[in-house]
Amino acid sequence: MRVLVTGGMGYIGSHTCIQLLNAGHDPIIVDNLSNSKPLVLDRIQKITGRRPGFVLGDVCDKRFLINVLQEHKVESVIHFAGVKSVGESNSLPIKYYENNFIGSLRLIEAMQSANVTSLVFSSSATVYGDPASVPIKESFPIQPTNPYGRSKSMVEQFLQDFQHANSDWSITLLRYFNPIGAHDSGLVGEDPNGEPSNLVPYIAQVAFGKRYSLGIFGNDYDTPDGTGIRDYVHVVDLADGHLAALNKTINTPGTHVFNLGTGRGHSVLEILRAFEEHSKLKIPYSIKPRRQGDIAKCWANVADAHKILQWKATRSLATMIKDTWNWQVMNPNGYDS
Ligand code: WQD
Repeated sequence: MRVLVTGGMGYIGSHTCIQLLNAGHDPIIVDNLSNSKPLVLDRIQKITGRRPGFVLGDVCDKRFLINVLQEHKVESVIHFAGVKSVGESNSLPIKYYENNFIGSLRLIEAMQSANVTSLVFSSSATVYGDPASVPIKESFPIQPTNPYGRSKSMVEQFLQDFQHANSDWSITLLRYFNPIGAHDSGLVGEDPNGEPSNLVPYIAQVAFGKRYSLGIFGNDYDTPDGTGIRDYVHVVDLADGHLAALNKTINTPGTHVFNLGTGRGHSVLEILRAFEEHSKLKIPYSIKPRRQGDIAKCWANVADAHKILQWKATRSLATMIKDTWNWQVMNPNGYDS
């Protein structure tokens, strides 16, 4: 299947393109390279032996998108392109609503013009905000608590309204929990710009000696060890979740929503200990004040993805840590190495 992958040069997009190529699909990447490097294409080709199509451009450019959809005879779209830092979204709301919401609106307009009627959308568990209980089901209230989460929930609402008015469309919303890890080749991985805002890449840089110490944002949460609990899922498992969505729902008109996680939670201290166990290195840390917008517990109920997509995360926490460390050691400065 010819699949347009917006943001396909990014962390989750590049891993998904690898799985698409390995499964015999033909991904065409559209990316503005605002948060990724051209080297990713060579790495994808080195891993799979095939080079995905690549067109430099922005999802907010409708004319550009229509041309790409038509010239490449695209059959379906996976939409990753967007911005995703909760912290940054508090200070730059225009950037988040423009990239995430306007970008998605322009993409749908272009797809409509090119008569492409199937979409998989990269959403996030952040749309749930602070849940009343865990594990979180897809039916739980959508109550985001920051501009990033609100921009994602606005896209979800728009897509549901659009599909209701265009009943022949198939639209699948995938709500990621915490993607971590890297392809086991160590050739592609998470390459944050500057200081990582997420836990696992930060720990990897401390372990590697790029950072002095980890700041743990609060150890007074209502959790067994006081630190925040999240559902960490291997990025390759997450990529496989997109292929399952393509296979299972893309020809089924309607709107489909799935949590993509492991269904298990791990605390910050558990992740730190797992890293020390694997790397045999001591990871210094200090307790800092809670981070604005953080919640205590967040992990997924993944029954729907298991039942309907026949998808299940298979990689263990140890594998996630091993692959993260392998990527860090092989690429000390990410794709700039
Ligand atoms: C995890 C835990 C922190 C950094 C983020 C995005 C979310 C989604 C997934 C895109 C929390 C603690 C972190 C640090 C720490 N991305 N922590 N010190 O916030 O659950 O979700 O990634 O959709 O949108 O917000 O992930 O890795 O930032 O934090 O103590 O230096 O680690 O408090 O408990 P988060 P995270």
